[in-house]
Amino acid sequence: MAQLWGGRFTKETDQLVYNFNASISFDQKFYKQDIRGSIAHVTMLASVGVLTEEERDQIIDGLNSILNDIESGAVEITSEYEDIHSFVEANLIDRIGDVGKKLHTGRSRNDQVALDMKLYTRDEVVEIKDLVKELMETLHGIMKEHIDTFMPGFTHLQKAQPVTLAHHVGAYMEMFKRDYSRLNDIFDRMNYCPLGAGALAGTTYPLDREQTASLLDFYGPTLNSMDSVSDRDYVIELLSALSTIMMHLSRFSEEIIIWNSNEYKFVSIDDGFSTGSSIMPQKKNPDIAELVRGKTGRVYGALTSILTTMKGIPLAYNKDMQEDKELTFDAIDTVKGCISLFNGMMKTMTFNKPQMEVSAKHGFTNATDAADYLVNHGVPFRDAHGIVGQLVLLCIDKQIPLDDLSLEEYKKISPVFEEDIYEAISMKTCVEKRNTIGAPGHDAMEKVIAINDAYLADL
Ligand code: ARG
Repeated sequence: MAQLWGGRFTKETDQLVYNFNASISFDQKFYKQDIRGSIAHVTMLASVGVLTEEERDQIIDGLNSILNDIESGAVEITSEYEDIHSFVEANLIDRIGDVGKKLHTGRSRNDQVALDMKLYTRDEVVEIKDLVKELMETLHGIMKEHIDTFMPGFTHLQKAQPVTLAHHVGAYMEMFKRDYSRLNDIFDRMNYCPLGAGALAGTTYPLDREQTASLLDFYGPTLNSMDSVSDRDYVIELLSALSTIMMHLSRFSEEIIIWNSNEYKFVSIDDGFSTGSSIMPQKKNPDIAELVRGKTGRVYGALTSILTTMKGIPLAYNKDMQEDKELTFDAIDTVKGCISLFNGMMKTMTFNKPQMEVSAKHGFTNATDAADYLVNHGVPFRDAHGIVGQLVLLCIDKQIPLDDLSLEEYKKISPVFEEDIYEAISMKTCVEKRNTIGAPGHDAMEKVIAINDAYLADL
């Protein structure tokens, strides 16, 4: 047990209490951020005259040598320290002696941990943005390639109207664009520096908080010291954004699983991204998509957990807040893994174009267009709806699509039909006629793809 406190205690901490209280097993994850924050802190302390330049340099050299040694494996972070802050400070004192004891001047672990957590999550926001961008690039490529690949569009998981693969994937593209912009918003809102808030009420030293903030690439210092040490809104916002990303990935995964099923055969997942069965030799399972869908619950759990932890905490810092870390780290790592794996699966997946088109044809997805044909020939829509309903019944009976019904049969149910009905309900016409922006028609999709081209080039 190596602790930063103990002066007012007359007894050793019970070992179980020590273990229960300690956070080093997980907060060692932000050793880099902790050292970076300390370097900024002492740089500022020297500039306001609290430390001499020589003391500052000695401390910074010591901190950098700790960083190098952790990275090279020369020094190991062990559970003999309560948390990463204690580890770094104790190690510094071992290395440079008494001057190391000045590192914590004008600082509390409360503002220190608030800073470390913010620096860590801020770095992760940037990494997650990059991963979302890579995924969007993959989806954009699929959209460009499949602008004329027809498939059924669904409502209630029933075939509804024909769309294209580009249009279907384009829906997810819009979701991930919003996810990306949510991450930007979070970055902007969280990017204020809590260091200098002290334990809760600032410090008596003439700290230059603007300088510390700028050394650490924040927009500026936070404006209330009690809020600074007890704000975890940015963790909640991030976990909420991550939950939304997972919800999108999970919906998409669910579709891939359906599309990959023996019944649909719309897609074929690459062997490198599939798994087999230990007993059934014929099996090729979509485990990646299933795991992404499954891990979504874990990320939602993290969000629910932190919301619950925070709801009853009076100002300012309370130890409950230490609970923000493990679940946030786990959620971040989970989401990063899921985006990468999902992206790899999408990149290598092949689309069965003929099967998608046949499926669209055989699901009466052109029935609305047949009704519209009648409307264009003067039949009121409600009557047209009824007439096409009868045609559909006939086709179900004959097990054929509307496209294969003879003109004679059409005319038997309504004399309004002429030879041009076939053209009017062809898959191509059905999609092509839907050309307002946002619709699946070729020209409308070209416009959206051009907008997305510019969007991606600008990220
Ligand atoms: N391990 C603590 C946490 O993660 C660091 C802050 C401790 N501060 C304190 N006053 N006990 O929240």
